[in-house]
Amino acid sequence: MRRFDGKVVLITGSASGIGRATALRIAAEGGSLILADRNREGVGAVAKSALEAGAASATALGYDAADRQSCVEMAADAIALHGRLDCLINNAGIYRRGHFLEAPEGEWEQIVAINLTSYHHIIRAVLPELIRTGGNVVSTASTAGVEGIAYASAYAAAKAGVIALTKSLAAEFAPHGVRFNVICPGRIKTDLGNGVPQVRDPVEAVVVRPPKLKGKDVYGDPEDIAAAFAFFASGDAAYASGAVLVIDGAQTVG
Ligand SMILES: NC(=O)c1ccc[n+]([C@@H]2O[C@H](COP(=O)([O-])OP(=O)(O)OC[C@H]3O[C@@H](n4cnc5c(N)ncnc54)[C@H](O)[C@@H]3O)[C@@H](O)[C@H]2O)c1
Repeated sequence: MRRFDGKVVLITGSASGIGRATALRIAAEGGSLILADRNREGVGAVAKSALEAGAASATALGYDAADRQSCVEMAADAIALHGRLDCLINNAGIYRRGHFLEAPEGEWEQIVAINLTSYHHIIRAVLPELIRTGGNVVSTASTAGVEGIAYASAYAAAKAGVIALTKSLAAEFAPHGVRFNVICPGRIKTDLGNGVPQVRDPVEAVVVRPPKLKGKDVYGDPEDIAAAFAFFASGDAAYASGAVLVIDGAQTVG
């Protein structure tokens, strides 16, 4: 498949994990990639790998999702690189856990800034270009945003916000031909995902259920999520907008 020939795709949080896997997946289908992350070295290495995987081009950009100006400037630089943008994949994120009453000051603001508010800033900055190209936005939320999760309420609230933002913009910009979709991964084998089930707590043992699917009964792989990003980002999903896709190896059902 060469679904991304001639397409320019911006992926945030692409130095590792799900963003990296998505970059390599889209690279293998001929896309031009703009890879943005606060980890400049990491995202530079992914750009190299993306070229080896078949990307038409791959450029690494540093930015800080916690900083509005940095988000807006990065988005403007991304559009200027090729003079067009077809897809934004909003994926940068952090996860913090702990008892609600013991969260350090500023943690709520930091989690919401990176996991939700940055998505808003970047979407606003690129939307006129996506209207011009008939492009689309795919964002990463989480099963936590659908179900909630003990010991990570700020994360869950931010992810629920990403879902609501996506559905609202899908409705508002459907007449302009821009699609918005959101993917809700369950537990995935990444730096962030590996930090999820660490605390041995009788309450949490009930709340953080393992996936049930045979072969994926501990973690899913970043590539499982990358395949869904490539679908939504491509013309195969021409009729999909406002979709919320849970991919969790049957973790949250039943
Ligand atoms: N791994 C899981 O189990 C899981 C489950 C549900 C949702 N998610 C979501 O998937 C997305 C990707 O996470 P991942 O699991 O691949 O983890 P990851 O830690 O491998 O990737 C997150 C990326 O975001 C970048 N990032 C973090 N803070 C940033 C900032 N301030 N500015 C710019 N970049 C920043 C990191 O450098 C990293 O490259 C996140 O939004 C995460 O919340 C992950």
